[in-house]
Amino acid sequence: PADLESRITSGMRDVPDFPKEGVVFKDITPLLADPESLRAVVAGIAGRYARGSVDAVLGLEARGFILGAPIALELGAGFVPVRKAGKLPRETHRASYDLEYGSETIEMHADAVGPGSRVLIVDDVLATGGTARAAVELVDKAGGTVVGFSVLVELGFLQGRRKLTDVEPHALAVL
Ligand code: PRP
Ligand code: MG
Repeated sequence: PADLESRITSGMRDVPDFPKEGVVFKDITPLLADPESLRAVVAGIAGRYARGSVDAVLGLEARGFILGAPIALELGAGFVPVRKAGKLPRETHRASYDLEYGSETIEMHADAVGPGSRVLIVDDVLATGGTARAAVELVDKAGGTVVGFSVLVELGFLQGRRKLTDVEPHALAVL
């Protein structure tokens, strides 16, 4: 709904040249700090999926953790963290994606998602789509099924959704 979208856009701040020059950082901390907004965005994502239709919510480090856990609670699902390389202690699946300079690797515990498990992936922002694509790859490697991919905000001009072939991402707000 339009009111939720404007709540999100007004609760975010653009921070130019962070974390490096030329990048405009989307700061969602004011949105998270506002009780009504936090509740609205969690309900806005969770409300798209029927309770019991998701086995695991995958939260992408770091801001996907904040949203993913309460969404999992709402849906009666478990929570699975996807972390930057080297943070998880047990055997993992790994997937890499290119950044403007260099690359990034993310990991998920190999036993966190079982074959046939229905997975909802949650993050704060869909930008170039590299993170999203790598997360889908992790679920594929584990034999799970991605039943949804939800973010607060999609930066439409970056066309990140083009990187996702089998998954139609959903955003509460599009910039
Ligand atoms: C940001 C954001 C998304 C990702 C989107 O995370 O939180 O996860 O970038 O970008 P992409 O679509 O171009 O991949 P970041 O890697 O900065 O890490 P953080 O969430 O740990 O701050
Ligand atoms: Mg992130």
